[in-house]
Amino acid sequence: MAEDLKIITGSKEEQYQALMPQINALIYGEEDLIANLGNITAALKEQFHFFWVGFYLVKNDELVLGPFQGPVACTRISKGRGVCGKSWEGEKIFIVPDVNSFPGHIACSSLSKSEIVLPISRNGIVIGVLDVDSEFLHHFDEIDSVYLSQILNLIAFD
Ligand code: SME
Repeated sequence: MAEDLKIITGSKEEQYQALMPQINALIYGEEDLIANLGNITAALKEQFHFFWVGFYLVKNDELVLGPFQGPVACTRISKGRGVCGKSWEGEKIFIVPDVNSFPGHIACSSLSKSEIVLPISRNGIVIGVLDVDSEFLHHFDEIDSVYLSQILNLIAFD
């Protein structure tokens, strides 16, 4: 496809619905993981203007910063630490409406107010997480959870 994203206005759900086929087309036929993760973060940032969106990948029993869009972020997170480490440990999606109320939250930026973290699992093993941060409180809900999960399912991690 042309490397131009069609940005749409509308409800959050309409925006995700317009974005899904475009992300699919962007990564279809491309086997390089880093290229695909990079384009996914760029597409999400372009459409939604999230404060920070990026991947952490499990390497040697740590989460290590992968492709992302936004301000510089912490490079390594251990299992159980912060929202990302808890998502990895519990293999669970976390929607955090107010990061200051989440015990152990890792503040890479004081501007980040709410976040969603989704584990990426393959064959029952968490191989990374997707972390999306907003500078607004209560920014994420079930709609983000559903569509971001669908995006993660598009990625081949072999
Ligand atoms: N807030 C995350 C750390 C990653 S940054 O926000 C990019 C956490 O608590 O795990």
